[in-house]
Amino acid sequence: MTADASEPLAQIGVVGMAVMGSNLARNFASKGHTIAIYNRSPEKTRAVINEYGHEGNFIAAETIEDFVASLQRPRKAVIMVQAGAATDAVIEQLADAMEDGDIIIDGGNALFTDTIRREREMAKRNRHFVGAGISGGEEGALRGPSIMPGGPVESWETLGPLLEDIAAKVDGTPCVTHIGPDGAGHFVKMVHNGIEYADMQVIGEAYHLLRYAAGLAPAEIADIFTEWNKGDLDSYLIEITAEVLRQVDARTGKPFIDVIVDAAGQKGTGRWTVKEALDLGVPTTAIGEAVFARALSSALAQREAATEAELPAGELSTLEALGVEKTAFIDDVRRALYASKLVAYAQGFDEINAGSAEHNWDIKPGDLARIWRGGCIIRAKFLDRITEAYENDPNLPSLLLDPYFTGELQKGLVDAWRRVVVVATQLGLPVPVFASSLSYYDSLRAKRLPAALIQGQRDFFGAHTYRRVDMEGTFHTTWSGEREELSY
Ligand code: 6PG
Repeated sequence: MTADASEPLAQIGVVGMAVMGSNLARNFASKGHTIAIYNRSPEKTRAVINEYGHEGNFIAAETIEDFVASLQRPRKAVIMVQAGAATDAVIEQLADAMEDGDIIIDGGNALFTDTIRREREMAKRNRHFVGAGISGGEEGALRGPSIMPGGPVESWETLGPLLEDIAAKVDGTPCVTHIGPDGAGHFVKMVHNGIEYADMQVIGEAYHLLRYAAGLAPAEIADIFTEWNKGDLDSYLIEITAEVLRQVDARTGKPFIDVIVDAAGQKGTGRWTVKEALDLGVPTTAIGEAVFARALSSALAQREAATEAELPAGELSTLEALGVEKTAFIDDVRRALYASKLVAYAQGFDEINAGSAEHNWDIKPGDLARIWRGGCIIRAKFLDRITEAYENDPNLPSLLLDPYFTGELQKGLVDAWRRVVVVATQLGLPVPVFASSLSYYDSLRAKRLPAALIQGQRDFFGAHTYRRVDMEGTFHTTWSGEREELSY
């Protein structure tokens, strides 16, 4: 149906009828809400009504004015269009047609600084702007995503119950909460995606070792991942990994994994996470290595040149030659994967805490872990433990220092991790996140770091000064003169 004054008004509307937008609209409709829909080209809106109109109460609008007129006040419109200029254009149109107190929700993967800017601009016009991270892909949008809304807390009061209706539920708890003001929701979604990159990369490294160190076939590895999915690693990404590895290519009869070009794409959220981490001074090494691993995989011409040039590999070994028993190695890889994953999450939460402090968002990390337990791409059983960790100590200096996670590391994880990194190195197999996470872990727990030497060098060539371990103050040694120590 099209909007007209005699019809009941919609509780909420969705702009943008690509798959994510139409699935989100269908999700609202399936929960009994009257939902207004609009798309710039009306054919798409009509197609959604033709195909899914019977699923619930849709109000199809062909102009933005009709769309806005069909919404109950305060009007709530979720934008599901491409991030960037397209989003700005729709925001302007909606803001023009809306009135004071109405709420515009951006459900795309927007850069959080854009969200902060948009929120300010909308606040000047008495419109509420909510940047909401939505995770779970197409299926999640339809059946229940994890939702991370930012924006003014007043908007959460009217918007919250609607989002709770469509969000994924875990033990009856909806996977949505008000994250914090202005860009907090999109910031958190950005880091969620960064963690997603690292999680996918460590799974990839585990697969690569099982395949090329242990010599297992993809279908055998699929069975191993299915088995791992019953334990500590129980998660959506492990589950779909088994599915992908078990798949056989219909055209060639080969394992599906072997017909895919090994160049991973990226739309940018992982890269943003790392750029922001650099600015905040938070070492998110696992996410950084995962982003770089995708970039290196995609540098096909460079890789081809290096392969053809047969760069020296040094003396390579094999599991047999190293006397490593295959079954034991497989279990070591599981533990190395778990340990590296812990580091990735710990670093992601560090970035969220740092961002929250920088922007005064007051984000509750335990709440995030709770809303990531269902719906989103990184949903995993162990997120319950992260919630508990932050409930026990909201100021936990690192997730790795939570007694549960320290206990996990004590259960032989660290030894297995070291063995795997050593074996991978001896076999010449790349494990950027496994190895860098282990180095991060060793740096974190080290009593002394070579940073003292760096301070000495900085003072030598640039009089950058240093602090002493045994007294307060700032010092400089006159390196080119008498080498006396001056204090400031
Ligand atoms: C999600 C996903 C989703 C998407 C990202 C990452 O939470 O549902 O993170 O947002 O998959 O765009 O995609 P890239 O790997 O292309 O960066």
